[in-house]
Amino acid sequence: MENKLSLEEIVSFCKRRGFIFQSSEIYGGLQGVYDYGPLGTELKNNLRAAWWRAMVYERDDIEGLDTTILTHPLTLRHSGHEDTFCDQMVDCCDCKARMRADGLAGGKCEKCGSAKLTAPRPFNLMFKTNFGPVDDGSSYAYLRPETAQGIFVNFKNIMDATSKKLPFGVAQTGKAFRNEVTPKNFLFRVREFEQMELEFFVEPGTDDQWHQKWVQERFDWWIKQGLAPENLKLQKQTAGELAHYSKATTDILFKFPHGFEELEGIANRTDFDLGSHTKTQDEQKFTARVNPNKDSNAQLAVQGAKDNRPIVPFVIEPSAGLDRGVLAVLTQAYTKEVLEKGQERIVLKLKPHLAPVKAAVAPLARNNEKITAKAKQVKQALLGLGIGRIKYEDTGNIGKAYRRNDEIGTPLCLTVDFDTLEDPKETITVRHRDSMKQERVAIADLGNFVKNYFSS
Ligand code: GAP
Repeated sequence: MENKLSLEEIVSFCKRRGFIFQSSEIYGGLQGVYDYGPLGTELKNNLRAAWWRAMVYERDDIEGLDTTILTHPLTLRHSGHEDTFCDQMVDCCDCKARMRADGLAGGKCEKCGSAKLTAPRPFNLMFKTNFGPVDDGSSYAYLRPETAQGIFVNFKNIMDATSKKLPFGVAQTGKAFRNEVTPKNFLFRVREFEQMELEFFVEPGTDDQWHQKWVQERFDWWIKQGLAPENLKLQKQTAGELAHYSKATTDILFKFPHGFEELEGIANRTDFDLGSHTKTQDEQKFTARVNPNKDSNAQLAVQGAKDNRPIVPFVIEPSAGLDRGVLAVLTQAYTKEVLEKGQERIVLKLKPHLAPVKAAVAPLARNNEKITAKAKQVKQALLGLGIGRIKYEDTGNIGKAYRRNDEIGTPLCLTVDFDTLEDPKETITVRHRDSMKQERVAIADLGNFVKNYFSS
């Protein structure tokens, strides 16, 4: 696919059709945060569910978890985030704009083009919040900058509760927060976003092999979500790009409207995190009232398979951004087609399992009670299949209903008409989104037809 779609076009489409809105728009908007509208919510839920299914339901070596956003300061001190989770930031001496130092074109200000910039200095990206009723700075927590830490600090609880043996993983999806210096490119770089993270624990020495395996698994999964292989690339991070915890990271890049950029990173985090949380550190000076039991002395180790000695597992971490995923599948799916009579059709060619509305059921004549009653009955029957949202389309003009549903990616439109009432088999018209082909299916066969359609 030659992707000529501009970011502006996708932003305006997302607003118009109720996928994504600027947060607090009526007050001028909050920079770098977005709300999901009715259809965006469905799409995001479907993408998250596809990840959860692939990670947790289809495997027996991964368990799910759901930990808090509010995070103990010591968790993020020992994880290294308090010291190192920074971007280099510069200020423009002329217009006073503040921006990330990396990626500046020609070392000039992004806003006014001035070359008079301050020297880069580190800026910690974590959001800090007051914890409890006293706001004197001594009692605080962080909004988590990654979901991963919730998994590491619960490692012992999970081991005790599930008796897992290496290799095994823990999967989690949820919000993460970063006070990005320059949020930009719509959902791509935002301050509040959702991650889908797996921490896969392995025997040291087998980590390189597992790393390779997960890179391939994750690349293949994105293709199953409809991303074209030619719009995806694997890229190894250079030594200078690696996060403080990583021995090696391979990024999966997608061709977003603004260019090829990171969609997911697969890191070999070694035993860095479990090791750090195990060490009992001298934290006497730390006066946080969050939890008086300040230091972690949990032994985050497992028994080795060979000699039963405790070992701290290595961790392979595929970490994907759900919002970047939504932007990627929308970018890939958004298609403009010119039809026979020169009319243009916008069609969102989403994989059926991701479509916000799975099927629209329309009565051909909305004033005919028998037809509307039958259409409502079909909707109820399809809803019972549990495949997702089924919409009753009560708009009358069937051509317009098809176009509207094409634009939001509804794979099937089902029309109940006069023939349905007369035909002893009670057939209805099934119209396919991508080919626009129509076929007639008996209502009695519809359940199997739709089930097969969505499972193929
Ligand atoms: N636990 C590892 C970790 O957080 P990361 O590369 O910083 O690694 C993982 O983030 C993924 O989270 C990225 O590949 C990206 O998809 C997403 N992500 C990170 N920062 C983001 C931001 N500011 N806005 C949207 N997505 C972001």
